[in-house]
Amino acid sequence: MVTMSIIKADTGGFVGHSAVHPEMLATAQEHIDKAKVDLLIDGQVRWCGDDISLIMVHRQGIEAEAIHSFAWDVFMTTTQVAKDLGMYGAGQDILSDAFSGNLKGMGPGYAEMEFAERPSEPVLCFLADKTEPGAWNYPLYRTFADPFNTAGLVIDPKMHAGFTFEVHDLFEEKRALFHCPGEMYDLLLFIGSPSRFVIKRLFSKTLGEIAAVTSTQRLGLMAGRYVGKDDPVMMIRSQSGLPAVGEILEAFTLPHIVSGCMRGSHHAPFLPVAQGDAHPTRFDGQPRVVCLGYQLKDGHLSGPRDMFDDPSFDLARQRSNEMFDYLRRHGPFEPHRLPLDEMEYTTMPAVAEKFAERWEPTADEVPELVG
Ligand code: F6R
Ligand code: MG
Ligand code: MG
Repeated sequence: MVTMSIIKADTGGFVGHSAVHPEMLATAQEHIDKAKVDLLIDGQVRWCGDDISLIMVHRQGIEAEAIHSFAWDVFMTTTQVAKDLGMYGAGQDILSDAFSGNLKGMGPGYAEMEFAERPSEPVLCFLADKTEPGAWNYPLYRTFADPFNTAGLVIDPKMHAGFTFEVHDLFEEKRALFHCPGEMYDLLLFIGSPSRFVIKRLFSKTLGEIAAVTSTQRLGLMAGRYVGKDDPVMMIRSQSGLPAVGEILEAFTLPHIVSGCMRGSHHAPFLPVAQGDAHPTRFDGQPRVVCLGYQLKDGHLSGPRDMFDDPSFDLARQRSNEMFDYLRRHGPFEPHRLPLDEMEYTTMPAVAEKFAERWEPTADEVPELVG
């Protein structure tokens, strides 16, 4: 069995919240290279926007203390580099002072899966910035449940039985399994609300194997205050009874609307980009995603191939830009700005507080003009 882990954190932005300084990336890669001697079989450092992702292969299983504490140490070091260079928001995602065995609730996000490596094992790693974990719901549904997206659901006998979706309720900290295609409509009832219900894992019914995993933590819910969006990651195994690489990528040709963007407070389309464009700019957006493709062999990574670095996605990018421009014209109005219940996790309540005294019961008389 091998385990693939992506552990990610924003430990400081260059410039503002737009990207990661190359020295921070180099420092993280040095740590990974040293760890390849014993802890890791292989590992790479990649990024999207202001988030560093450690993409690691090892034999420690998921939720392993050795792996989590290693990642924690790496992020402590990149935080120090960020501080030394005066990067913006150094240590942003480090919510705790000390590591205590596992990264859950500590700030960094992670997606991990353990599996028996197939003779040829294509894996796609998706890294996003300026959005939240529910951003994966739409493409995962399209990939694993929609035959208009995924031809294999109709044509491949190994896919015909469908997939099981593990959904997490982030508010109640509960989870449930949905068996598709039979429970497709029931599934949609929940995952159509991606700020609360997120797809955590996918399993092939025929192969009995894990097919995908996402990072699901929401910092705002953990910290009880605004600490940015959670810039999620995801891994999907592909081919031979699992969705083909092209079927998984097809789900990103609609730049669906996600929440995040400027101040984590806006709806905006999800832009698929090449690694070289993984730097949010206009209005701290658009929320964006890179896809890094790997072939795994005895735990070693060949790659990445930069999967969205392809003219096939130009139309999606153009649409995304047009949609974004249109939404931007709404300024502070919903539905560009998030609904009120979501704004509770931003800095807006602090502004509203100033006017708490001013509100009085509605009455028929014309109000007295004061001030
Ligand atoms: C969104 C994000 C940015 C910041 C914005 C304000 O996830 O990180 O849009 O919210 O740039 O940042 P501060 O409050 O640090 O000036
Ligand atoms: Mg940041
Ligand atoms: Mg970020």
